[in-house]
Amino acid sequence: MRADLPTPLAARERPTARRATAVAHPNIALIKYWGKRDEHLVLPRVDSLSMTLDVFPTTTSVRLAPEAGQDVVTLDGRAADGEALRRVVDFLDLVRARAGTTHRAVVDSENTVPTGAGLASSASGFAALAVAAAAAYGLGLDATALSRLARRGSGSASRSVFGGFVVWHAGSGTPQEADLGSCAEPVPTGALDPALVVAVVDAGPKPVSSRTAMRHTVDTSPLYEPWASSSKADLAEMRTALLAGDIEAVGQIAERNALGMHATMLAARPAVRYLAPATLTVLDSVLELRRDGVPAYATMDAGPNVKVLCRRADAARVAEAVQAAVPAGTVHIAGPGPGARLSDEDGR
Ligand code: PMV
Repeated sequence: MRADLPTPLAARERPTARRATAVAHPNIALIKYWGKRDEHLVLPRVDSLSMTLDVFPTTTSVRLAPEAGQDVVTLDGRAADGEALRRVVDFLDLVRARAGTTHRAVVDSENTVPTGAGLASSASGFAALAVAAAAAYGLGLDATALSRLARRGSGSASRSVFGGFVVWHAGSGTPQEADLGSCAEPVPTGALDPALVVAVVDAGPKPVSSRTAMRHTVDTSPLYEPWASSSKADLAEMRTALLAGDIEAVGQIAERNALGMHATMLAARPAVRYLAPATLTVLDSVLELRRDGVPAYATMDAGPNVKVLCRRADAARVAEAVQAAVPAGTVHIAGPGPGARLSDEDGR
């Protein structure tokens, strides 16, 4: 190191911002994350790839409260308790360990996802929390390190740190090596003007958490390993399709990857089934659109709701067709959105 460069301060000597606010958006995977190799470190078994959305941001503020005996967490105006509180406190413990402090925090998080919209708020939630907490505790992390940190709250949150199309590397080697390698980065794309039409067919809570379902699938499904290895090939093809700006190829690969993931769950013992009759009705309407010459392709996560990838120019038509198929459902149109960032609220 050159003598005239400032020496990095040890974590505990860094001045902390004490209060920071961050905004992050949800993402939808086109190549799915399903299955962990390490539950504690949240290391996935497969690489995944997603699009960060431009709708439904989460805004989270973290204020250090040295006087407080415990963390105080408010989610959408209500005091968090149970599992939700435990996950946030565990995450803050990780940040505190790195900052070399035991100071508790006051966390306030607001989601703009309409209640039960079926869009996982854990990705935007933990991405926003990672960015705000790292700033408040003065960790001085770059985007890659923030992605690695957000991963520990919820795997898919690692992708919401970045905007647009994003790949999350599974990481390889020993758990310590994989912990370092398992982070997200933006993916180069050609001329794409995509939209995701989100069809909410059931706004109720999911019967089985994704965490539990993926563990059960890895443990019992004879289709898990074949899907995981075909997912590697899907990812390579997806990168090529994105670079070429080929929305049809992107959609075909995304749809088969998602259906394959659901097949692994259907083959688990006993089966985990998130797909509902209304899901299949939407899938039929997507087929119908394709028969009419509109490139539209479906993907589903750990729930019955469907996200339809299409050209932005076709989004209104796709939304109309999907809404007609499930009149009781609600339909939203999303485009590619930005990565997580600190907001100006705290005078930045
Ligand atoms: O990040 P988690 O633990 O909520 O898992 C998300 C898993 C899927 O949404 C089903 C797939 C994905 O890659 O987002």
